[in-house]
Amino acid sequence: MTASASHHPDVSGGSDAERIVAPNRVEELRSEIIRHNQLYYVRDAPEISDADFDALFHELRDWERRFPELISPDSPTQQVGATPGRTFAVVDHRLRMLSLGNAFNAEDLLDWRRRASELLDRDEFTYVTEPKIDGLAIALVYANGRLIQAATRGDGRAGEDVTANVRQIDAVPNELKSAPAGPFEVRGEIFMPKRGFEAMNAAIVVENKDRKAAGRAQLSEYANPRNAAAGSVRQKDASVTSGRPLAIAVYQLGWIDDHASPDTHWETLRWLKSMGLPTTPQAAQHMDIESVHSVCERWTRQRDELEFEIDGVVVKIDDLGLQADLGVVGREPRWAIAWKFPPQEATTQLRKIMINVGRTGTLNPYAELAPVRLGGVTVEHATLHNLDDIHRKDVREGDTVVVRRAGEVIPQVVRPVLVEQRQVDSEPWKMPSDCPMCGWAVVRDADQAMHYCSNRACPAILQRGLEHFASREAMDIRGLGEKVIELLVSNCEVKDVADIYTLPSRLGDLAKVRGLGQFKKRKGEEVSEVGDRLKNLAAAIEASKSRGLPYVLAGLGIRHVGGEVANLLAQHHGSLRAIIDAPAEDLGTVEGVGPKIAESIAEWSSDERNRTLVDRLIELGVKTELEQRPQRAEAMPLKGRRFVITGRFDDVSRADATATLKRLGATVASSVGKKTTALFAGEAAGSKLTKAQELSVRIWDEKQLRKALTDPDAVAAQLAEEEQAALALEPPEAAGGDC
Ligand code: IVH
Repeated sequence: MTASASHHPDVSGGSDAERIVAPNRVEELRSEIIRHNQLYYVRDAPEISDADFDALFHELRDWERRFPELISPDSPTQQVGATPGRTFAVVDHRLRMLSLGNAFNAEDLLDWRRRASELLDRDEFTYVTEPKIDGLAIALVYANGRLIQAATRGDGRAGEDVTANVRQIDAVPNELKSAPAGPFEVRGEIFMPKRGFEAMNAAIVVENKDRKAAGRAQLSEYANPRNAAAGSVRQKDASVTSGRPLAIAVYQLGWIDDHASPDTHWETLRWLKSMGLPTTPQAAQHMDIESVHSVCERWTRQRDELEFEIDGVVVKIDDLGLQADLGVVGREPRWAIAWKFPPQEATTQLRKIMINVGRTGTLNPYAELAPVRLGGVTVEHATLHNLDDIHRKDVREGDTVVVRRAGEVIPQVVRPVLVEQRQVDSEPWKMPSDCPMCGWAVVRDADQAMHYCSNRACPAILQRGLEHFASREAMDIRGLGEKVIELLVSNCEVKDVADIYTLPSRLGDLAKVRGLGQFKKRKGEEVSEVGDRLKNLAAAIEASKSRGLPYVLAGLGIRHVGGEVANLLAQHHGSLRAIIDAPAEDLGTVEGVGPKIAESIAEWSSDERNRTLVDRLIELGVKTELEQRPQRAEAMPLKGRRFVITGRFDDVSRADATATLKRLGATVASSVGKKTTALFAGEAAGSKLTKAQELSVRIWDEKQLRKALTDPDAVAAQLAEEEQAALALEPPEAAGGDC
């Protein structure tokens, strides 16, 4: 299964070798796709991720494109979904329920627009975009304003009659506010908002405890909101549907008798809404494809901000007359396309369950995976949270698992699949009884989900603490990464974060440690030297001394004190000493610092070892007092400037750059417009770069970004100069009628 199979050039035919394998491969793909369709649509128990399914489908379509003689009417490429299951009566759809073609990038989107342009011989269209909600497609028939039928999509021609169940869903009106008398069909998506989904799964966990006590069978949790919505609608007992947190968004008028309907999709949405049918508030109308594209990019970045899961953006040509002219090809209308996000889920093998001992001594299990592409990166590890979670999901070593990435967080193992194919000797995973780092006993608090190492001086705790202190969020010490820290700890060179600042004066000793120093053969004998690596490390350590109070505080690893809280405390108290001397009541008076945080700091400060640590940091020259930065206008050289940052930078994080630019008075916007002063474009900059080029906005690289951050006055002067020069180029205003 390779996703790349979908990007063969669009030419027919193939090599002789391909011609020989094509019929078998096509058959194989068809039966796989049909099997997965059954699992997905009929049993709500998919075995592979959507992305893997898409890859199979694309590969099939690709073969059929190159060997059209192999296309048959029963190929899944010519149908929608699978034939309906047996639990419900069958409903024939008066109009086929269609599927959508996919666009994975701007090029695909422009190709789609170009095909429509060519067919209709016109360049300009109005478009509508809607989030592609991940739920269950439904066709509702209303007559005299009352819901008389609800049917699933099924294979597109016939679906299942789920009227009784859908009548139980509060979000679906049984009676419309105002509606034409004649019957009409409206289509939409029934879905489960994320919160409802989480609450429902949590309720299943609770219910299972009772069931276990009563010796009854366990219920399984739903894997994702889509399955939960589909499972909830397709219940034999409609009263079960009634308690489920379902919602609906309608997106199309199917057919209508005896009544005029609007000419555009946009108007149709408004009309449906006026009848009391929920539509998606995020739907938008666009006058050009650029604006469509930028909305697609926006949702790609911001999908997690929505309260429901979406797997893309649906783009439709607004004019219904033009829609009719464009028609349908195979199972897909030519007038609409789905902009798909990079996959957030993939299936792969879980090779081993490993343990990472965290900063607070928690034992965090994680999965070592067979490498897999996910959301545009290769993933080899995924978190498994804790023992209960592993047992609840019944994830075992050797399993094929679904992994998922949501937003920025580390990928998670969602569930095992193909469980029946497990080896006979497969066993539920056990938490080790001894800490893998130091061998001390592992303990578990009675009411807590986590396991801990009982050794307060466990080297793993020290190691993670040092890693955190040196990280970008804290002291940002380049060259002090995991490997170097491991060497320093195992060679007893560093026993706490203050020891880091003794390193620059001990480079000669450190150079003797293999992996730190530079080893050379001299007269047959090996000698060590302080190489560049150690010199650079020493310089980075020295430089970090003046990183500033908020970062030192955040680096100490006090529970609940992250960057934001550290900043608030720093601004309020002004020095590390003042913070550790403050009683909890005082700490809690700072806006944004609650009692839990205040308690945690007070507890940390009450430990004599921690107070000594602070003394040593100060003695060793670490700045622990707030540098008062004047906030007056003259200290904001970039005031009135508007920047956009995109792409990846080697040495600057986008978050840091944004914060600094804002402090210097600039606005940092998320999209490029005419008023943008400059776009800072890093590696892999995408549509924003194109936009900036189109609008002739300044495009600056990482070097200029660093300059703006470190020498903003120079940048401000440069901008002012450029503006003067531009003014001088403008033609002078006509002065009276003399010439
Ligand atoms: S339009 C011909 N609009 O996506 C148009 N579909 O792959 C087909 N979907 O079966 C439907 N949100 O379940 C349309 N705003 C939206 C949608 C949407 C979700 C689903 C729907 C459909 C599938 C097509």
